[in-house]
Amino acid sequence: MTVSNQAEPKLQLGPFQGITDVWYRIAFQKYFNGIDQFFTAFFSGIHTDNSKNLHTPEIDPNLNPMDKLIPQLLSNDADEVLRFAQQINAMGFTEMNLNMGCPYPLVARKKRGSGILPYPDIVKQLLEILSAYGKIRYSVKCRLGYEQHHEIDQLIPLFNQYGLNQLIIHARIGKQLYKGSPLTKEFGRIHKRIIPELAYNGDIFSVETYLKLSKKFPAVQSWMLGRGLLSDPFLAADIKKQAGTIHSVQRLQTVEKFLQEIYYLRRTHSRDNLNTLGRMKELWSYLRYSFDDEQQVWRLVKRVKTFEEYENAVSEVMKSNQWIGKGYQRKLDKEEQDKTQYP
Ligand SMILES: Cc1cc2nc3c(=O)[nH]c(=O)nc-3n(C[C@H](O)[C@H](O)[C@H](O)COP(=O)(O)O)c2cc1C
Repeated sequence: MTVSNQAEPKLQLGPFQGITDVWYRIAFQKYFNGIDQFFTAFFSGIHTDNSKNLHTPEIDPNLNPMDKLIPQLLSNDADEVLRFAQQINAMGFTEMNLNMGCPYPLVARKKRGSGILPYPDIVKQLLEILSAYGKIRYSVKCRLGYEQHHEIDQLIPLFNQYGLNQLIIHARIGKQLYKGSPLTKEFGRIHKRIIPELAYNGDIFSVETYLKLSKKFPAVQSWMLGRGLLSDPFLAADIKKQAGTIHSVQRLQTVEKFLQEIYYLRRTHSRDNLNTLGRMKELWSYLRYSFDDEQQVWRLVKRVKTFEEYENAVSEVMKSNQWIGKGYQRKLDKEEQDKTQYP
């Protein structure tokens, strides 16, 4: 196992269904840097060869840099896993990811997402079929368990045996959803036993947190950012010390251009469907914490119902706010982290 290079860590962006879509990723790569790899939000329902679900801009090779994007599947069915692998392989992708982390009860109750973690036999079938197929690299994104953090103990021998390209661990259990704190002590207990490349995920909301975690877990080779980067798109570049000289006025201007680009792309490709507004609001629900008057930002943006109202709200936000950054960290500071401690 190699030790991560602190000067130039490998950084990945966790997928967010409905937020980090292809248009977000295109705009992000135009205005920011620091992220080495992106994942699609999870696909599901791949019931046939040449599945319609895969005919989407999300994984269109003409829109996505193939070497930087890893398509993700949520499934507990080995045949579906194989169908997905074959189809994305035919499109030219060289790696896929299995989602074993989704915590939502409707998913987990069906032994999917993090709900698969208490069932090593099912996990084994999925890994076996990919290993036998052999034409595509595969990684797993999981949690420490669904009900209990030690469920992962039974899975580590499988993850080690089946030649995973990478194991990404979101250091929570499924039952926590996205609440409470990551279980770093429990992650620390198991992390040295993992042979594939290991990625840590969970509450990296600031450069300081990244530095603390990378010191604590030198065996971790990659770091997955999530809500921290949605709130502050400079986070990856700041971790890599690539954005040091950009001051807050420039940062605000860059964020404005970035948002305009996503908005324009989403409007164009949805033929001006108003659901563009819902999607933009979801992104703003994270970004707002990086502005100095987060409450005013949210008040202005959340109520818009037309494109014109949205554009006016954004220009008002940009006129009357400063960019502070470190959004999600600030949100937690405000909410007094100890109120949401696990369990
Ligand atoms: C609204 C929402 C949608 C998400 N969609 C996905 C998804 O499709 N696939 C996935 O692996 N994780 C998904 N995640 C999890 C994130 O990628 C990430 O693992 C999680 O937020 C923990 O990282 P963080 O603490 O840095 O935010 C989602 C999370 C949220 C809140």
